[in-house]
Amino acid sequence: MSPTLHLPGLVDVHTHLRVPGGEHKEDFASGTAAALAGGFTQILAMPNTSPPLATRDVLQATRAIASQTTRCDVGLYAGASPQHVVELPALAAQAVALKIYLNDTFGPLRVEDLPTLHACFRLWPRGKMIAMHAEGQSVAVGIGLAAAYRRPVHFCHISRRDEIELIAAAKQAGLTVTCEVTPHHLFLTDADAARLGPLGDMRPRLAAQDDQDALWAHVDTTVDCIATDHAPHTLEEKASPNPPPGVAGLETALPLMLTAVQQGRLSLDRLVELMALNPRRIFGLPTQPATFVEVDPHARATVANDRLHTRCGWTPFAGLAVQGLVRRVTLRGQVVFDADRPEALARPGAGQLI
Ligand code: DOR
Ligand code: ZN
Ligand code: ZN
Repeated sequence: MSPTLHLPGLVDVHTHLRVPGGEHKEDFASGTAAALAGGFTQILAMPNTSPPLATRDVLQATRAIASQTTRCDVGLYAGASPQHVVELPALAAQAVALKIYLNDTFGPLRVEDLPTLHACFRLWPRGKMIAMHAEGQSVAVGIGLAAAYRRPVHFCHISRRDEIELIAAAKQAGLTVTCEVTPHHLFLTDADAARLGPLGDMRPRLAAQDDQDALWAHVDTTVDCIATDHAPHTLEEKASPNPPPGVAGLETALPLMLTAVQQGRLSLDRLVELMALNPRRIFGLPTQPATFVEVDPHARATVANDRLHTRCGWTPFAGLAVQGLVRRVTLRGQVVFDADRPEALARPGAGQLI
């Protein structure tokens, strides 16, 4: 028996839960089961749903569904859309943060004009975060806005050497920018994309070994958070002529990162900063009393699709050997996940809406 390790409940600031409109891929009950199985007790759900979380009515209706069906604590992003900028102040009352999509992604939510970007920075409350899907030179656009408006901007899924180096330079210059990287960009490269086909396709795409090396080189410094970008699509959709980008990530993130700790790539303390302390601080999320994750840091397993809780039922990491498994999760004093007792899983509605 190896000793059990206690970690704080993990926080994922980048999860796609597909409500409304994509419930066949995931919903609050299935996605938050996956979250708990992965050690996450607090997650932020993305707004590129169908219709998107870009209007007061859709956001309000989705909050109502979330509060009835979520198993862990969940907050919602509002989505920036050129058609609905006037709604931003009203959206802010119901959302944890604003998401702006500058680049190619899944779904129609996109901001490609400067007037809308100005409106976002003027109308969104200063106390709430603006997160950006920015790739390549769009990262510079986001940094420019952070500088011009002197306010924090969080960059989602940074994946390339030149991007992480630009964020490092912006931080060096005193700008209040933060960033996340995903486990898939830390553990897979374009070589895996060739092997996996559509199951290895996401935005940003998997990158070169040199890009991955740069992310690891900045993991103790420039990187603020590990975020999953859990983006489930069904195998049927992935096999279609026009497969949507995105891969599941909630249930593999912690085992992968614990494996990296075993390999000496980062410390356990740093893992806790990246997966719990920093995300909570950056997004101003509430603390969760009597909440912790018990992991067996030495337990070995092979990632398997049939053990997943996510509705999509597959992961690009299937077949990979990992070391470090979630045994039990306790939320506010209640056991909400136990690897040996499926019946311990929190019921839908047991989680709180942030
Ligand atoms: O791969 C991706 N999938 N990138 C995105 O930006 C969106 C996400 C999704 O919602 O499926
Ligand atoms: Zn994105
Ligand atoms: Zn995403």
